[in-house]
Amino acid sequence: MRTLPAAGRIEIAPSILSADFSRLGDHVRQIENEVQILHIDVMDGHFVPNITIGPVVVKKLRPHFDLFFDTHLMISDAPKYAPEFIRAGSDGITFHLEAVDDPKAMIQQLRDLKASVGVSIKPKTPASALKHIIADVDMILLMTVEPGFGGQEFIPESLDRARELRKMMRDDQRLEVDGGIYTTTAPMIVEAGADTLVAGNAIFSNSDPARAVRDILQAATTK
Ligand code: DX5
Ligand code: ZN
Repeated sequence: MRTLPAAGRIEIAPSILSADFSRLGDHVRQIENEVQILHIDVMDGHFVPNITIGPVVVKKLRPHFDLFFDTHLMISDAPKYAPEFIRAGSDGITFHLEAVDDPKAMIQQLRDLKASVGVSIKPKTPASALKHIIADVDMILLMTVEPGFGGQEFIPESLDRARELRKMMRDDQRLEVDGGIYTTTAPMIVEAGADTLVAGNAIFSNSDPARAVRDILQAATTK
């Protein structure tokens, strides 16, 4: 199992939600040399009003790519399905705080399975809701749009939320942001403390996805 790239460097995590599923492998291949993390959005039609990717897709992608598979579970029953994703080849599992009754038990379950651990909050969940578990995870995923669909607009209040979270976190923990990330929004969210930028539409709806990754990274790292 791969480990999450050490914190301290900006990483772009392309979200395959916006990839062309009729040629998913080819589309991922276009960015594989540009990044270390691949973001996989799992939706169950219950926690969010959309249905996307199951473990079978992770399993088919796994032998072809040496990327860290960052698996974002937007599902109601994360404890049930997380082990299946890990068996299929997920390296990191991020669950939603809003969906899990016992976050500490969920974290322990993921630790026992040797996966990297992330926890995510939706735009309306206060950052303070994470205070009892924030020390126990490798990554916080701050949703910068309502989860469910790609191609939505970045919520500006996310900047203050990122600052607040960053203050609660250690330097060895990653702060990932997800939704509405483009060359325009990347610099401000990085300035607010994010170091892991998920981008779907900006990358896979671009005719040159590799260049789109480089452009976002450059925008994010140029002061
Ligand atoms: C939304 C997903 C995102 C999505 C981001 O629920 O979690 O990962 O793919 O898409 P863009 O970058 O298109 O806003
Ligand atoms: Zn996501």
